[in-house]
Amino acid sequence: MITLGIEGTAHTFGAGVADSDGRILSNVIDMHRPASGGLHPREAANHHAEVAAPTILKAAEEAGISVRDIDLVAFSMGPGLGPCLRVAATAARSMSVSLGIPIIGVNHCIAHLEIGNAATGCEDPVMLYASGGNTQVVAYSGQRYRIFGETQDIGIGNMLDKLGRELGLGFYAGPAIEKLAEKGDRLLDLPYSVKGMDVAFSGMMTAALSLRKKGHSLEDIAFSVQETAFGMLAEVTERAMAHIGKSEVLLGGGVAQNSRLREMMRAMAEDRGAEMFVPDRRLCMDNGAMIAWLGSLMHESGVRMDLRDTGVRQRFRTDEVPVFWRP
Ligand code: ATP
Ligand code: FE2
Repeated sequence: MITLGIEGTAHTFGAGVADSDGRILSNVIDMHRPASGGLHPREAANHHAEVAAPTILKAAEEAGISVRDIDLVAFSMGPGLGPCLRVAATAARSMSVSLGIPIIGVNHCIAHLEIGNAATGCEDPVMLYASGGNTQVVAYSGQRYRIFGETQDIGIGNMLDKLGRELGLGFYAGPAIEKLAEKGDRLLDLPYSVKGMDVAFSGMMTAALSLRKKGHSLEDIAFSVQETAFGMLAEVTERAMAHIGKSEVLLGGGVAQNSRLREMMRAMAEDRGAEMFVPDRRLCMDNGAMIAWLGSLMHESGVRMDLRDTGVRQRFRTDEVPVFWRP
């Protein structure tokens, strides 16, 4: 069975093709980069509407198939920005109607998790899902992916992006902050906000900006932000692993592209005799292939959706979805 996956929760429009054995046949990503300032939902949605058809056609072409070969269309139903989600949903519905094929709306966070499982071969991990809009520690228990800890305010990537914007590093500042951090060596004092199993990041951003006003270098600030924020994530992830007795940790989401985060999480896992997994970078960021793969898993497990059930859900929670596809 061939599944087309359509992603469009925020700044990225993606289309990918997967087969039911978990093979990724294509994964085309088109990211909206605002000319100035942050991400505006309406502008991102306009971008998605413009690139939707060519991106889908390119995904089919790269997979070596015709759109007529697609057996199922899956799309990101949420969580995400309303205007962006509606473009992806509309594209998926029109494919479903015009090709006469079934449609499945999937949870974007679970898609990050399942593509990690499929791509790395890990089986029952605690997942650290660290992206722009989301920061969650998730693991499977009793037919659900449960959230063991999460951010109480903004996602870690949003914190990096907002900080980067204020510091003049441009939008989507994670990679720029990573580069600067490699040259920093002084650990400056920043709020380490772990509350039980939850974390918070907005205070760190404010504190980092005031360090800049005091004249500290961008390199030392970037280094300190990474060490502190990633340390917080490692702590809550480790505690989740200890509590629920899991010996695998999986990274996902755009921030999982960061080498320092990978290094810290690998060291944490090795210390506990556990193993760390992270998929290829193009599968960490928002992409259509992960949506195709989760749609395929759900369909194989018997999930069916009517077109009327395909309304988008901006606040769709990871633990709302009954997980029928795991043994
Ligand atoms: P979601 O909808 O899952 O919240 P998203 O819309 O934020 O996802 P992603 O592609 O998963 O999209 O993640 C983008 C985030 O990843 C941005 O905040 C970006 O700054 C961050 N990021 C990308 N590369 C790096 C890196 N090397 N280091 C740190 N952060 C990074
Ligand atoms: Fe994402």
